[in-house]
Amino acid sequence: MTAPPGVERVLFTEEQVNQRIREVAAEISAKYQGRDLKLIAVLKGAVFFMTALARAIEIPLKVDFLAISSFGNSGPGMVRIAKDLDHPIQGEDILLVEDIVDTGFTTRYLLQTLAGREPRSLGICTLLDRTARRIVQVPVDYRCFEIPDRFVVGCGLDFQQRYRNLGYIAVMDPEKT
Ligand code: IMP
Ligand code: MG
Repeated sequence: MTAPPGVERVLFTEEQVNQRIREVAAEISAKYQGRDLKLIAVLKGAVFFMTALARAIEIPLKVDFLAISSFGNSGPGMVRIAKDLDHPIQGEDILLVEDIVDTGFTTRYLLQTLAGREPRSLGICTLLDRTARRIVQVPVDYRCFEIPDRFVVGCGLDFQQRYRNLGYIAVMDPEKT
């Protein structure tokens, strides 16, 4: 796919993304060896990362999905579960897989919700981390890339629902679309 309008520059190429996913997957494979690992992805953005990560992890695992939606324009962090997990997580080793942790509001809400279901452990694995914009602190266990304070697309991240299918991560200027 040729670079869409608004794409300013490629931050991480498809090769760099895949290489980094393999490294993080190796860490996870070692850490969760012999455990009961389940990856939970938040629809839709994290699904692209989660499938790549899952294929690179070398131990048995399960996957499940949830979707969230925000309450109108009520500000950051005002989210609710729009589609819940299919199965309970009690006693399981859960890794919440995110496309990006930005302000941290979404992640904190999900962590609190999932923790209440009594998993054996609960970790966070994110493709991108933008700590420059963090408002609430969340414990990120695995991160592929730290990114600057710019809007990005690709590898599951969208601009108005498009560009999720780009294999690379690109900085985008929405005013140039
Ligand atoms: P948070 O609650 O501020 O951490 O928001 C995280 C959510 O905002 C992500 O799951 C994305 O859906 C969206 N988001 C944040 N930054 C970007 C970006 O640069 N590009 C695309 N989506 C983003
Ligand atoms: Mg989005």
